[in-house]
Amino acid sequence: MKLYIGVDLGTSAVKLLLMESTGKILNVVTKEYPLEFPQPGWSQQAPEDWRKAVLEGIPELLTGYNGAEVAGIGCGGQMHGLVILDADDNVIRPAILWNDGRTAKQVDYLNNEIGKDKLSALTANIAFAGFTAPKVLWVKENEPENFEKIAKIMLPKDYVNYILTGVHACDYSDASGMLLLDVEHKCWSQEMLDICGVSESQMPKLFESYACIGTVKPEIAKLLGIGGNVKVAAGAGDNAAAAVGTGVVGEGGCNISLGTSGTVFISSEKFGVDNNNALHAFAHADGGYHLMGCMLSAASCNKWLMDDIYQTKDYNAEQAPITDDKLGENHVYFLPYLMGERSPINDTNARGTFIGMTMDTSRADLTQAVLEGVAYAIRDSVEVARSLGIVINSSKICGGGAKSPLWKKIMANVLNAELQCLESEQGPGMGGAMLAMVAAGEYGSVKEVCDKFVHVASTVKPEPELVAKYEKRYQQFKQIYPACKALFAEFVKE
Ligand code: XUL
Repeated sequence: MKLYIGVDLGTSAVKLLLMESTGKILNVVTKEYPLEFPQPGWSQQAPEDWRKAVLEGIPELLTGYNGAEVAGIGCGGQMHGLVILDADDNVIRPAILWNDGRTAKQVDYLNNEIGKDKLSALTANIAFAGFTAPKVLWVKENEPENFEKIAKIMLPKDYVNYILTGVHACDYSDASGMLLLDVEHKCWSQEMLDICGVSESQMPKLFESYACIGTVKPEIAKLLGIGGNVKVAAGAGDNAAAAVGTGVVGEGGCNISLGTSGTVFISSEKFGVDNNNALHAFAHADGGYHLMGCMLSAASCNKWLMDDIYQTKDYNAEQAPITDDKLGENHVYFLPYLMGERSPINDTNARGTFIGMTMDTSRADLTQAVLEGVAYAIRDSVEVARSLGIVINSSKICGGGAKSPLWKKIMANVLNAELQCLESEQGPGMGGAMLAMVAAGEYGSVKEVCDKFVHVASTVKPEPELVAKYEKRYQQFKQIYPACKALFAEFVKE
């Protein structure tokens, strides 16, 4: 039996998954690594930590299994992170991550001096602080000595693929989030490279996500305890990989991911752009395209409240007092902008906010406000998609937050959409393993693997009475950010 390894290179940990070619999951290993916030709104990580976690994690994953049966590896990785290598392929500085907000000035330059229309014409997208191109400009302006040394610009999962194969590669889905790719035509945009002062020779070679970029190098294969001909797929951005894992490929599927970030992912066979660029227009891992809204802090808001503020690990106990009669009745609201916000408001200054407390407000009301605030912010992106004529009456749901039945119920009613939960929900790691199966020739297409492996186990249906209550609450929530916006900008000046 052939085996495949899926790698979910996340923000707090790498999750490795061992899968049989039948889709059966044999083992999962998680290795955490630190995340640095050197200044408020900045977020970075050492690529060496990813390398160490993957190289130590895979032998652990294979303990008790036959490493010689491994036929392929595929990775779904946190998107947009800037990894820069020198001429000897050494990492120059810590990677600047997808949720880093240091590039407000460069975003302003790109969107207002180069101009949103031009950016959209060249790349199908406008600049957001987390995207890679503004970070390249930031390094150029703030760390010229590092900029001079750049021989290769990569994304996080591409660094892992480089460690495995020695090949500098990137797939179209992840490359889309760099703001350097002509997404429609799937090639680097020479004009964008010029704007950022880099050349095509500094960029990785482009592949479809399910293409094989090479085989694992002999010395690495030995270290990992695998055979000599293990194929590595180009892999995908974590959202595209998660969509593969939930079977959201082809035309018109929707996947909501409640991970560190929160995303609404709409797959499409054809290229298309939201005229206001509030949603990202990216390539998909199945060879097609997708639109995506991304909020920067989703399950991480709840994690922050539980781990840092309440200092508890018992999330279920905190959610237990939030009984059905409390839903739609909470008068406390939470703006989930703990790292600023991307979709759809594009504001690095935005901040987290509780509002509406009274003397009878309880700890559980605050917990509920956080779960609801994330649901309302996801709805903001869903509403942008609906305004484009996209019908979202149902969606797959995945990610750590989707483990909470309460959160899913809140989400289904806030969105007025049926949420489908899967039999085996392993997010980007599962998608990565599925891409590896196509790269190794086990299956003919991404769709074929999805049809075989992905099965809906249960659905959470919206309830009309609760939908109506949440509709009112959402209309109130929508007024909070505009009322605070100018104040947030003031706070940042201090
Ligand atoms: C997507 C995005 C996040 C990261 C999280 O645009 O920035 O979802 O990929 O890992």
